[in-house]
Amino acid sequence: MRTQVGIVGAGPAGLTLAMLLHQQGIDCIVLEARDREYVEERVRAGLLEQNTVDLLRHLGVAERLNREGLEHNGIYLRYREQNHYVDMAALTDRHITIYGQQEVVKDLTQALLDRGVPVLFEVSDVELHDIETEHPRITYEHDGQTNELTCDAIAGCDGFHGVSRPTIAEHLTEYEYVYDFGWLGILAEAQPATDELIYARHANGFALYTMRSQEVSRLYLQVDADDDIGNWPDDHIWSELKTRLGDVNEGTIFDKGITPMRSFVAEPMQHGRLFLAGDSAHIVPPTGAKGLNLAVNDVRLLAPALTELLTDGNPERVDGYSTAALRRVWRAQDFSNYMTQMLHDLGSSQFERKLQLARLEYIERSEAAARSLAENYVGLPAEPEF
Ligand code: FAD
Ligand code: PHB
Repeated sequence: MRTQVGIVGAGPAGLTLAMLLHQQGIDCIVLEARDREYVEERVRAGLLEQNTVDLLRHLGVAERLNREGLEHNGIYLRYREQNHYVDMAALTDRHITIYGQQEVVKDLTQALLDRGVPVLFEVSDVELHDIETEHPRITYEHDGQTNELTCDAIAGCDGFHGVSRPTIAEHLTEYEYVYDFGWLGILAEAQPATDELIYARHANGFALYTMRSQEVSRLYLQVDADDDIGNWPDDHIWSELKTRLGDVNEGTIFDKGITPMRSFVAEPMQHGRLFLAGDSAHIVPPTGAKGLNLAVNDVRLLAPALTELLTDGNPERVDGYSTAALRRVWRAQDFSNYMTQMLHDLGSSQFERKLQLARLEYIERSEAAARSLAENYVGLPAEPEF
């Protein structure tokens, strides 16, 4: 088999890249390890930057997003048991939208299949070969058969635990910071008791009140990184949420799990004809809501660069891909780390706790501080083209 771009991974990065390439007349095939249902039901992020929403609209896959997405104007920062509003729309003239990652994945997958772009689920034993040549190959198992896909370029969009980054590990420098806490996340059948997201700093630890719709709440609690979900019966979760967040509406919990937190970057995001995008190259703690948005930004840059390489033979933009993408990645790393350090119980001294409160009060009292937070949170404007 032959294609122009072989894409490993059907997460937000791989699927968005496939849509962009298809729109630009470039052939591609997406190879995904899991089955379609698993990928479409996997509960993860929920907050889309304006840039991400604009791109999904540009791709013609935002019909349901336009209908069901919840447009938000700001966030509450909660400390000393009180909510303080940061009006992001007034400060930046940009919005954020709540729409579950798995809904984005469903919309993109269906759009690709409708357009005849192959998305192969349940592939295994994916291996990448001849990366340093102009015709890299992917070998994999599918439907009990061994296959070989010859490409002009490969996009490694296979997340943090994929095969792409390890294939070129000897050419990469890795930067990592692992936090000693994680997030326990739940989905509950409950009307949210708040109009906007609440990021709460509390002596017991961080909590976040977010939502998926008027009927479904999504809530998170800071827990120890090695904590077990078995230690958290539902009534314990609700009482802790109420302690940290104040007014919370209870309902049936239908999904719960613990996510570890890390900051990670692999540089550069390219070797030969293998290009990394999304979580395969970088991870941020979710406090800044940047993971999904960064993945989409990477492929926004990668798609036109690959198109120029494959249609005009011009390598200039692919050669600049890693530098361009990493600029936003490091900005998001700093912002995500800043939000995390300001809001979590770091197990630190009274002195550091006082600093956290001083930072939060500065945002309340200074428009410049609030605007800085807001422009990072809603996302700096995208590079010019899609
Ligand atoms: P992924 O979504 O990870 O997609 C990679 C795909 O590649 C997967 O479908 C995987 O099955 C597939 N794959 C892996 N290995 C192979 C292989 N060998 N062959 C073929 N396919 C392969 N971000 C936030 O902003 N807020 C959150 O609340 C939040 N919660 C999260 C919770 C969890 C448990 C995780 C893991 C991440 C969370 N994130 C969150 C981060 C956000 O979801 C990611 O940044 C986003 O999914 C990145 O998209 P991606 O396409 O790069 O990678
Ligand atoms: C979510 O809605 O799941 C969400 C929102 C904001 C975050 C993280 C997760 O910072």
